[in-house]
Amino acid sequence: EETGKSGYDHFMLKEIHEQPRALRQCLRGRVEEQTASVDIGDLADLAPTGVQFVACGTSYHAAMYGAQLFRDAGVPAQAFLASEYATSPPPVGNSLVVGISQSGETADTLSALREAESRGARTLTLTNTVGSTMDRECDHTLYIRSGPEIGVAASKTFAGQLTALNLFSMATAERNSTRRDVVPELRKLPGNVQKILDSSSAEAVADYYEDAESYFFIGRGYQYPVALEGALKLKEISYEHAEGFAAGELKHGPLALVDENTPVFAMAVGDDEKARKTLGNIKEVEARDAPVVAVTDGRNDAERYADHVLEIPETHPRAAAVLGNVQLQLVSYHIADQLGRSIDKPRNLAKSVTVE
Ligand code: G6P
Repeated sequence: EETGKSGYDHFMLKEIHEQPRALRQCLRGRVEEQTASVDIGDLADLAPTGVQFVACGTSYHAAMYGAQLFRDAGVPAQAFLASEYATSPPPVGNSLVVGISQSGETADTLSALREAESRGARTLTLTNTVGSTMDRECDHTLYIRSGPEIGVAASKTFAGQLTALNLFSMATAERNSTRRDVVPELRKLPGNVQKILDSSSAEAVADYYEDAESYFFIGRGYQYPVALEGALKLKEISYEHAEGFAAGELKHGPLALVDENTPVFAMAVGDDEKARKTLGNIKEVEARDAPVVAVTDGRNDAERYADHVLEIPETHPRAAAVLGNVQLQLVSYHIADQLGRSIDKPRNLAKSVTVE
């Protein structure tokens, strides 16, 4: 059952729909409802004073999100592309080096971790794969518990990575006390993802835009890695041109490419200063006649400037990243499906890349 398609046309669609269960497994026994605290066992003792994340592909986008969590908690943290880290390693100091990898086998990430270890760093892997090389070689492991993922393009494991990163930062850098408000939002994630799966208009949006020349994705803060991931997913499975940008960076170059043939998917979450600025960026593209698809919780004015809306339930911005990504996964899936692409095994790509 776990390895069949269970009635879905593709493993990827099945795995997108498995996200509520995968997230429940990730959270099981790790969040305490009464005290709103997080329990990841001995790993809480790590209390890193600095974190360097290394990863590739989708896992790198999770790394960017993770680095932001730690920085927001006052701990210096950076995300590195593993291949660049291994090529030009930064000073490691007392940092904990965290390799994020679904497979636990990616050669670039392994090589970055080995480089860090040779420089005396403590290493941890955040992985989905028990007994993988990273699991065996690193000093510590935090499992994301997403279950097997067959589709080459990562889907449910990205959600698992973001969720596990929240647990990791809350149990170490945030020490449970500062971010109690996030715990209930993590608990609600499986149900909120299910709501999106039950009601998404992503297929209609995909129908509408499947002939576009190029697709842009923008996001700010925790939604920035999601914009990058949205673009990567679309490239991987549809072979269409797609780019993700930090919302504020659009005006520094990419805006020159924006016209009526480039739909812009904008992550518009919350009602704070960040959301206000992102709204400004949405107006910039709207003024250039680009179609705007707002992924929004309805707490800002994005709907007013959008041609289409993909709704997500209201939640903490950290959880909104997981929810918004589900909408983008569905859009990519349906565009690729309409184009008749080989969704589970895209050309030229492999699930686990064991060469550098
Ligand atoms: C390959 C896959 C990607 C994946 C990347 C990292 O390129 O096609 O989907 O994100 O490897 O994989 P990992 O197992 O290290 O997360």
